[in-house]
Amino acid sequence: MKNIGLRFTVIGIACILLFGFITGNKESKQTLLSKEQVTYKVGILQFVSHPALDEIKDGVLVGLENEGLVENQNLEVFFQNGQADQSKLATMSQQLVNQNSQALIGIATPAAQALANETKDIPVILGAVTDPVGAGLVKDMGEPGGNITGVSDKAPVFEQIQLATELLPEAKSMGVLYSSAEDNSKYQVAEAKEAAQRLGLEVKEYAVPSTNNISQIVQVMGQAVDFIYIPLDNTIANAMPSVVNEANKLNLPIIPAVDTMVTEGGLATISINQFDIGVKIGEMTARIVKGETKPQNTPIYTFKEGDFIINSTQAEKLGIQIPEAIKEKAKNVGGEEK
Ligand code: TRP
Repeated sequence: MKNIGLRFTVIGIACILLFGFITGNKESKQTLLSKEQVTYKVGILQFVSHPALDEIKDGVLVGLENEGLVENQNLEVFFQNGQADQSKLATMSQQLVNQNSQALIGIATPAAQALANETKDIPVILGAVTDPVGAGLVKDMGEPGGNITGVSDKAPVFEQIQLATELLPEAKSMGVLYSSAEDNSKYQVAEAKEAAQRLGLEVKEYAVPSTNNISQIVQVMGQAVDFIYIPLDNTIANAMPSVVNEANKLNLPIIPAVDTMVTEGGLATISINQFDIGVKIGEMTARIVKGETKPQNTPIYTFKEGDFIINSTQAEKLGIQIPEAIKEKAKNVGGEEK
């Protein structure tokens, strides 16, 4: 009897151990499998948070997915936000390079520049860099060479200012508000200046040294110009609520270069959709990561056409009649019309 009992106990323990061994083994095989599935790594460095860049980032993930790279399935994404701080951008770039990603995306010029400084081997994809040549990132838009290519968010500047003259037929002068610290703005300011002069407007430039001075500068502009033009400038985009607040006190219309700034209180624009820019960046990155193309022979992508965007609430506030012809083709981001 005793012996049989002992035998059962021994067999029982053996069974438990064996079971444990089998299931344990199975589990470790499973984790191994899911690790093997993560075949791609992509690093993203975003310069700062503002509505346009946040939309671009969301678009990037969709673009990667369109090309079969799905987060938590076969793709690991390392995301960092530099919060407009140059030293943070440098450290984060180093960290991203050390993660051995197959590609790094820099959203906005300063982020792309920080990444480009850290690596000459890993592909760097420019995320909405307006002027890649002027920012010293590539030699040629058509043949970038090196490890860099990407997407430019260059806006239809002439058409935007022409729209301003249609909405504000009395306007004689335009003030350009931008940050002197951003390489991407210099080129746009020159382009805006030329376009405005061709359209018969007088142009004044207002370069802000830092976000702190923005309200004061808008007040000065109120005395000197008939409307404000804002290029694709990250500093101003980040401070848009205070710009709108100040401009509204002065009844000063704002024509920005991007739809997100119209949503925040600009009057109107013709804009490249920011989400679409992100999708394009994601798709281009995926093709490079999969080895289908190389940065050196992928031309910088630029969008051809923008969408008409109006803010009817803002128009009403400013006492501006938007012509029917423009209303018909435009998307209204200003809520319901009364
Ligand atoms: N083009 C900007 C750059 O090169 C980034 C950017 C994209 C942006 N969309 C924007 C800036 C909208 C201001 C508003 O850095």
